[in-house]
Amino acid sequence: MYKTSQIKEGIYYVGVNDRTKHLFENLWPLPKGISYNSYLIDDDKVALIDTVDVCYSEVYFRKIRSALGDKPIDYLVVNHMEPDHSGSIEWLVNQYPHITIIGNSRTMDMLKGFYGITENILSIKDADEVKLGKNTLRFYLTPMIHWPETMMTYVPELKILFSGDAFGTYGSLDGGVVDSQLNSDGYFDEMIRYYSNIVGKYGSPVQAALGKLSGIDIEVVCSTHGPVWTEKGNIEKVIALYDKLSKYEADKGLVIAYGSMYGNTEQLAEIIAASAAENGIKNVVMHHVSKSHQSDILRDIFKYRGLIIGSPTYNNQLYPGIESLISALRNRNIKDRLFGYFGGFSWADASLRHLKEFAEEMRFDIVCDPVSMKHSLHADVVESAWNLGQIMAEKLQRQD
Ligand code: FEO
Repeated sequence: MYKTSQIKEGIYYVGVNDRTKHLFENLWPLPKGISYNSYLIDDDKVALIDTVDVCYSEVYFRKIRSALGDKPIDYLVVNHMEPDHSGSIEWLVNQYPHITIIGNSRTMDMLKGFYGITENILSIKDADEVKLGKNTLRFYLTPMIHWPETMMTYVPELKILFSGDAFGTYGSLDGGVVDSQLNSDGYFDEMIRYYSNIVGKYGSPVQAALGKLSGIDIEVVCSTHGPVWTEKGNIEKVIALYDKLSKYEADKGLVIAYGSMYGNTEQLAEIIAASAAENGIKNVVMHHVSKSHQSDILRDIFKYRGLIIGSPTYNNQLYPGIESLISALRNRNIKDRLFGYFGGFSWADASLRHLKEFAEEMRFDIVCDPVSMKHSLHADVVESAWNLGQIMAEKLQRQD
């Protein structure tokens, strides 16, 4: 038997922790695991909000039984169909064959496609409501946070928002489930990493969703990953963070991401970083793309306004790790960055041309001419690298 966590009267947490998976979506590292959150609303009618990854169906089932006993579940609300949340739907339908699945028209298309489910479904539209008894479920369609079918469910009587992936974080829930029960400090950085990795492409849809939610009184935010947000300061903080990230606004700081085969391009990066620090920039983050995971590099580029990229020329192209990084930045439509670039070459200088094309395409503010190095560091190159760090620092300082 489990002692089920109660979030508010009649609202229970029945999610699970995954501390064994190495990579979320087989892409993004999970050094501290992840939680798949699901919630039960026990009213005259019982509703379950989202399910969990199929690997945890059995634990999940035991938690639900522990909370409900033999009482049936009337509704499953599917806020999001990605399999980390929909993976236990087939199993749930087998256990509760009379359950009605609530989603929107796009959810229904995916339910049929993924799981062959076409019966006992209730397709809702934006702002539709379903009465459970004392409480009401009101649905808000919030497409592209993070798939086209995504929606949120609000219970006005309790001022609880079930937000899907939005406001979610990497990191398992160790002990507490609600922010007031745990030290939530480390989760905010993991929220930025999650956002930049998973949701970062969808700034405009996030802005549209925040606009839709702006008139709603929210006292509890129940995301599908990470802590339940209940503390006043935290609710404001996570909403403000999503607002800032989705507008591509960033703090004063500099990311230097570079590739280097034998250390020459890396020496340029060191000079630029030292110059930026000497000129007052405390937040300087350096990433060697062959060592840092792209997940962390993206997080930092979403955090800081200054971006300097360095690459050797490799087969007349960019260094492969840099090529991959700029593809990820393009994919996320990253905007409004102060940008600098540098590169090394031995016989054909191609990397700077590619970086210039990238910066122009992204409409970055290029702070000065790039630093070009043939073979190794010479005095004029050192001076030009120092100059790049200094100009970047001065432009960042003006941001205040
Ligand atoms: Fe947590 Fe988009 O799934």
